[in-house]
Amino acid sequence: MHQRLSPATRVSGEICLPGDKSISHRYALIASMAEGESRIHAFSTGADCHSTLGCVRALGISVEEQGTDVIIRGRGLDGLRAPTADLDAGNSGSTMRMLSGILAAQPFISRITGDASLSRRPMERVMKPLGEMGASITAREGRFPPLEIHGRNLRAIDYTLPVPSAQVKSCVLFAGVYAGGTTIVREPVRSRDHTEIALGEFGAQIRVERRVITLSGRPRLMGREVFVPSDLSSAAFFIVAALLVPGSELIIRGVGLNPTRSTLLDVLVSMGANIRILEVTQKNGELVGQISVKSSHVRGGVIERETTAALIDEIPVLAVLGATSEEGLIVRDAAELRIKETDRIATVAENLRRMGIQPDELPDGIRIPGRQRFRAATLDSFGDHRIAMAFSIAALVADGECEIRDAEAASVSFPEFFRILRQVTA
Ligand code: S3P
Repeated sequence: MHQRLSPATRVSGEICLPGDKSISHRYALIASMAEGESRIHAFSTGADCHSTLGCVRALGISVEEQGTDVIIRGRGLDGLRAPTADLDAGNSGSTMRMLSGILAAQPFISRITGDASLSRRPMERVMKPLGEMGASITAREGRFPPLEIHGRNLRAIDYTLPVPSAQVKSCVLFAGVYAGGTTIVREPVRSRDHTEIALGEFGAQIRVERRVITLSGRPRLMGREVFVPSDLSSAAFFIVAALLVPGSELIIRGVGLNPTRSTLLDVLVSMGANIRILEVTQKNGELVGQISVKSSHVRGGVIERETTAALIDEIPVLAVLGATSEEGLIVRDAAELRIKETDRIATVAENLRRMGIQPDELPDGIRIPGRQRFRAATLDSFGDHRIAMAFSIAALVADGECEIRDAEAASVSFPEFFRILRQVTA
């Protein structure tokens, strides 16, 4: 699907967005290991989280969808059954990496595959710790999907993450659920902590002290009712849209504001964005609140070190904002961006160039000049949801109509994106 987008005169209204992708994956996986029924409200509508549900079903767990509620009937830690075919993670790195931790502990062999993009993403980052725990995993060329996982009785480990990755951390913690003894994960940089919070909510003994997570093995996880907040990473596109288009005023309700995710808001505010957070409450251990945004002149600046890691998914849309900012934007320490759904340094740079902007690509980042005007262009998602959405926002302030090729990629995390974009720009 190619999407045509015209410049917007204003972004306004009050919107509610679909459930958080990261939290939905975790609730689905943990509910599948728990005893009894879990009801997950506002489960992500994205294809990625449905890949997780598909895998869980293929492992013999009952999954029922009622609108955006998902009901999962777990049979406890040892209730998964050997799948009769390959498990398909689709485009979802989270599904493949986190589920691997669970599969590594099962008394059966499983194979997990993905689409062309996922098949190019590195998996040795999960194979190494799971191997240390006793699992035996083979991969194409030793590191790429598909993974063939020979489950074993796992032993607990004390593991220091070599890369800042919440997916790897979660993989080790899920394996640690099955291991005898105490699993310890040490993080060099703090990454999103939804797994730690959710495991605690379902009954695990888990402690977090600074960047050290300690989990007691073989907990009794109990099914329960949980609510998924709206996805802040999806909200990011609309926040930037409202900042960019003059005269805009937008309210986004019920957004997840977990501090390991909300660095984006801190950075935007420090650059001069008019953003206010209201009505903050807590649900299932996660902060939730309302975001109000008004169009603003943003200064731009440098994003590096742990800040880069904390807003890694938002960098494509920040790059768009950076090009219109006063000083431009420099992103450093972002080598991880090169191994996302696409090489996001290359795909962001290519679309910026098509719009008449000349960024400098760095091995681990990008330098984008400020005070730029976006030229109307034919842009490409390159099959990457966040690239499709980031450049749809750039199109709102281009000097004419733009086309986004393969815009349907957005549905990997946010199928309602174009509908809501039309609603707020109408
Ligand atoms: C995610 C972690 C991040 C992020 C991804 C979702 C998660 O990936 O980019 O979109 O839900 O744990 P890494 O773990 O590779 O940093």
